[in-house]
Amino acid sequence: MAIKRSIVERLFVMCVLLCIVQVNLAAEPAVKTRPHWLPLSQDDLHDPAITALNLLQNPSEALSKLPHEGSGNQVDWVKALEKGFIRPHINTGSNAEIKVLDLDVLRRNTGEMDMVLFPHKQHTEWLACSNCHDEIFKSKAGATKFGMFDILNGEYCGRCHGAVAFPLTECKRCHSVPRSPIVIPAQTQ
Ligand code: HEC
Ligand code: HEC
Ligand code: HEC
Repeated sequence: MAIKRSIVERLFVMCVLLCIVQVNLAAEPAVKTRPHWLPLSQDDLHDPAITALNLLQNPSEALSKLPHEGSGNQVDWVKALEKGFIRPHINTGSNAEIKVLDLDVLRRNTGEMDMVLFPHKQHTEWLACSNCHDEIFKSKAGATKFGMFDILNGEYCGRCHGAVAFPLTECKRCHSVPRSPIVIPAQTQ
């Protein structure tokens, strides 16, 4: 019974992945679409009847000045930080320090997809080691076993990606390292 369910789950995940890839390919525009943010009065989150809404800044006013990215909230936050558009507070303490770690981890278990490069640098500019270690990820490359199904389920990378960091539809931002083609050695006769 348990085995049967896991096969059905796997098939379902494969279908979801294939659909997303197709939507992704079909939706890939020749020219990047212009960003568009709904005003707060139309975002279905704020009550348009409240007059104090006028006191709040509309997203388009703030976000249009930041580097554009065609998905999620339409801002490339990594570039925004790198280029100095934003300078987030580390915490409320005054003598907090950022410990940036420049260490890439390559995850190769990606089937037909390009491999996944996990960059510590871009993460540790925002996050403390303890946000990920050792509760979510072990501190040893390849030691944590997980796959795309877990990520789509909101685990591992999916704890943040698709929630507060760029969405999971952006396959290529994670699957960024092509496998080198297999070189078949010339036959010697
Ligand atoms: C956003 C999550 C995240 C943060 C924050 C993070 N790491 Fe990692 N770390 C990972 C992942 C993912 C791996 C790979 C784990 C695996 O492959 O099983 C990893 C692996 C490692 C490894 C093993 C590298 C190797 O080649 O074996 C070390 C060491 C490490 N992290 C140290 C740190 C330190 C120190 C910090 C803070 C400065 C930090 N990490 C912050 C996610 C994170
Ligand atoms: C936030 C980063 C991230 C995004 C975005 C992402 N993936 Fe993955 N994907 C991973 C990681 C990490 C693995 C596991 C690699 C490993 O274990 O070595 C993985 C594994 C996979 C695998 C291997 C089989 C499996 O079930 O694990 C496939 C296929 C896959 N991803 C497809 C996709 C597709 C299609 C998209 C876009 C719709 C996508 N991924 C988006 C990080 C991501
Ligand atoms: C604790 C939260 C968290 C986890 C867990 C996490 N990320 Fe991220 N990641 C972020 C944030 C925050 C950013 C920067 C904001 C953004 O790009 O949306 C980011 C950015 C990235 C980038 C963009 C780097 C660039 O140069 O543009 C990649 C690639 C990435 N993550 C891959 C992964 C992969 C793969 C995993 C799992 C192995 C993972 N992340 C797990 C929070 C997380």
